[in-house]
Amino acid sequence: MRFLSKRRRHPAAKPLALVLALFVMGALYAVLLPTTQSNADDSTAQSQIAQGNDLFELNCSSCHGLNGEGTVEAPSLIGVGAASVDFQMETGRMPMARPEAQAPPKKTLYTAEEIAAIAAYVASLAPGPAIPEEDQYSNTGLTAAELARGGELFRTNCSACHNFEGRGGALPDGRYAPALTNTSDKHIYEAIRTGPQQMPVFSSSVLTDEDITQIVGYLNSLHASPNGGFDLGGLGPVGEGLWGWVLGLGSLMLIAVWLAKKGARAR
Ligand code: HEC
Ligand code: HEC
Repeated sequence: MRFLSKRRRHPAAKPLALVLALFVMGALYAVLLPTTQSNADDSTAQSQIAQGNDLFELNCSSCHGLNGEGTVEAPSLIGVGAASVDFQMETGRMPMARPEAQAPPKKTLYTAEEIAAIAAYVASLAPGPAIPEEDQYSNTGLTAAELARGGELFRTNCSACHNFEGRGGALPDGRYAPALTNTSDKHIYEAIRTGPQQMPVFSSSVLTDEDITQIVGYLNSLHASPNGGFDLGGLGPVGEGLWGWVLGLGSLMLIAVWLAKKGARAR
């Protein structure tokens, strides 16, 4: 190469070549490193999905179909999102033990890693609600006004099924809306976004993430104060009904006795 021959070389050639080499290396580094990293992320994501696929085939496909397309036993999971799987599995509803009106919550037998893998697999079938980040449902430091608004939103959207104080209630066909006293903040968020069973899906155009933090805050404030309002010492609906009977019948008897006495005196 003529350019590099000793006679012709400019005094600044060596430092310049060094600078150029550093520049090229820097550029290569900048271009290559992020892509190699995201390739690594991609392949862990792919292997997570593959693991999820295997677990799904073993534990879920008998009811939901080999590709989550649904069967006569169970609905399609295409598009339900990672949030639905996370909710259903962490609350122990899925895998359902046997077909029945409503999968009861129970202790889950799966690890967080297994649940995440199945959730990733189901999410890979079609887009759906993602598992929320903590700041999407975190409700610390809400003002009294925000909690009151949460209460209003709850009464408007939820109390028809879950009762004014979140104690749950019966629905037709042996189904029920559960009490919300033991549900984690994350599961409240996921239930709202994925609408398990009879529950409607509330999309972010109906309830924003901010609305949800206020509802969650309101529900938490209910549990913090042992008895919200007049409820006869928390005897529950049956106990309260019984008290109604006793008090109502008792006063009728008193009136009857009083009328009888009055009648006797008037004679
Ligand atoms: C015995 C049958 C059966 C098995 C096994 C089963 N499911 Fe289900 N699954 C159902 C039925 C029935 C429903 C709908 C009724 C309900 O939600 O209670 C359902 C509902 C769901 C939903 C809610 C769908 C929605 O619309 O949001 C998810 C998510 C789900 N199952 C995931 C799973 C996963 C994951 C597994 C495996 C770990 C699994 N299921 C195993 C029967 C089953
Ligand atoms: C039409 C009736 C209905 C309405 C309205 C409704 N839900 Fe539900 N909800 C249900 C039913 C039924 C279930 C139980 C589903 C299951 O077990 O698979 C449920 C389950 C839940 C759960 C899960 C509880 C647990 O134990 O894991 C939460 C949390 C919840 N609902 C919150 C809400 C909130 C908040 C609203 C209002 C924004 C609401 N629901 C509105 C019927 C309803």
